[in-house]
This record gives sequence, C-alpha cells and structure tokens, in this order.
Amino acid sequence: MSKIKEKWEYYGKNDPYFAVVTIDKFRKGKLDEVHKQEFFQTGEEHIGKIWDDITANFTTNFHPQTALDFGCGVGRLVVPLSSRCDKVLGVDISEEMLREARLNSEQKQINNTEYRQTDLFLSDARTEFDFVHSFIVFQHINPEIGIGIVKNIVGKLKDGGIGALHFTYENKTSKFQAAKFRIYRDFPAVYKAKGAIFGGAREPLIPMYVYDLNEIFSILQENKCHKTVVRFSDHGYKGVLIIFQKDKNQALEY
Ligand SMILES: C[S@@+](CC[C@H](N)C(=O)[O-])C[C@H]1O[C@@H](n2cnc3c(N)ncnc32)[C@H](O)[C@@H]1O
Repeated sequence: MSKIKEKWEYYGKNDPYFAVVTIDKFRKGKLDEVHKQEFFQTGEEHIGKIWDDITANFTTNFHPQTALDFGCGVGRLVVPLSSRCDKVLGVDISEEMLREARLNSEQKQINNTEYRQTDLFLSDARTEFDFVHSFIVFQHINPEIGIGIVKNIVGKLKDGGIGALHFTYENKTSKFQAAKFRIYRDFPAVYKAKGAIFGGAREPLIPMYVYDLNEIFSILQENKCHKTVVRFSDHGYKGVLIIFQKDKNQALEY
C-alpha cells in the first residue's frame, strides 16, 4: 500500500470526520448526532453556494444526470449532490472513508449514490459526467500525480457539462515555516523524530501542496472549458475554486 493511501486509511479508520473538516467538535470522541448534523449542514451550504453560482453564471435549473465528487471522504458533499443530480459517484483513495460514506448514504436512505476507489475510477475510460466536483482534495495530492488526475477528470466531462475544482496555490505562512513543513512532509523520518524528541502530534502528517495555476488553466483550455468563474478560498493556504463549462464549439473564445 502506498504511504499516502496508508495515511488516509489511518484517518478514515480513526478520525474520518475530523480529517475532512478539522474542527475539534468533529473529532471521534466528540462527534454526537448534533455535531454530525452540523457537519453535513456545512456540505449542504457548500453545494448550495456552487448551485447559486452555476445558476447566476452558467445555466438555470441545473440538474445533472451524472455527477462526480472526487475525494469524497465520508460523503459530506455527495449527500447534498444526491438531491440535485440523478446519480452521484463518490471517489476516494481510502477504503475506510468509502465505507463510512456508504454507511451515511444508507442511514440517510439515499439510493442514487455509488462509491469507488481512485485507481478503479481513473482506469475506467467509459464513465462520463455532466458535473465533476472536487473540494479540499487536490491540496493533499502531490501535483506530480494530481495534474494527471485533473486531466482524467476534465476529460470525463461531457460537452456542455460543468465542473468545479478546488486548488491551493500559495502557502500563506512565512518562508521559514513553509520550508519546515515541506521537510516534515517529504521526509517522514524527520517528522517522526521531531515527535519522539519534542512530543506532540503522533498522528500522520496530512500533506499539503500548492499547484501552478498555469498548468490547470492550460488543461481547461486544451479541453475546451472556455467559460470559467473563479472564486477564492483561504484556509491558511490561498486557493481557488474554478467553476467551468465544457463547450466543444468554443463559442466564447476570443
Ligand atoms: C479533507 S478531505 C475532503 C473530503 C470531501 N471532499 C469534503 O470536502 O467533504 C480529503 C479527502 O481526499 C481524499 N484523498 C486524498 N488523496 C486522494 C486521491 N489521490 N484520490 C482520491 N481521494 C483522495 C482523502 O482520503 C480524504 O477523504
């Protein structure tokens, strides 16, 4: 098993809700039914905002037949998508996350969702979507791998379909802090030794990466996704949620 999959399996098994939204009340020991409802409410609000943006900028009454949520975690965003789309596929690297997501669909009596592991999804060239979405996921994937995944996902968007993909592009901390983080991220033995010497976090470090937005926009242009709307995000890293529509006729190109 790859090191990165191992990390997400750890979090999927030990603290899946906190790994998705790192607020203390979502930690395993504290997550009661009220907090769980609040957790899913954050997902409803996120997808609601995207639908508002799509309605204002792209099309009214957007109701995709097929939708993808890449890096779905426990299904926080699959649930609100399931009431707006005919079918939703949630994809994640972690079987443990997917197990929890399936359980959530079942408990909420949602029967138009499916869940699949990343490798299986990426190797299936036949699946196409009217809507592709990913939020706070690529930030955890090394761009050396992530860029290939973006190409795969954008390639699977149908003509006329809409996408909403999120990327971080700048670490806001000082150069020194950022360099220290990169050392801990890229040299796990150093991170482990730090923990052993100074105490503190014993859990695996969740990696963070920044993307070159030139590469992302180049993929969108090559795939005829000419209409784009950009929204900014700030969770300690500067980020963008790019909403775009594929238009093979390139009607909007200058
Ligand atoms: C911070 S959580 C976000 C979950 C979900 N997008 C949400 O906002 O509720 C990041 C998720 O990305 C998943 N992930 C990380 N690397 C991945 C990869 N290569 N393929 C698919 N999922 C991945 C993790 O397992 C985790 O569930």
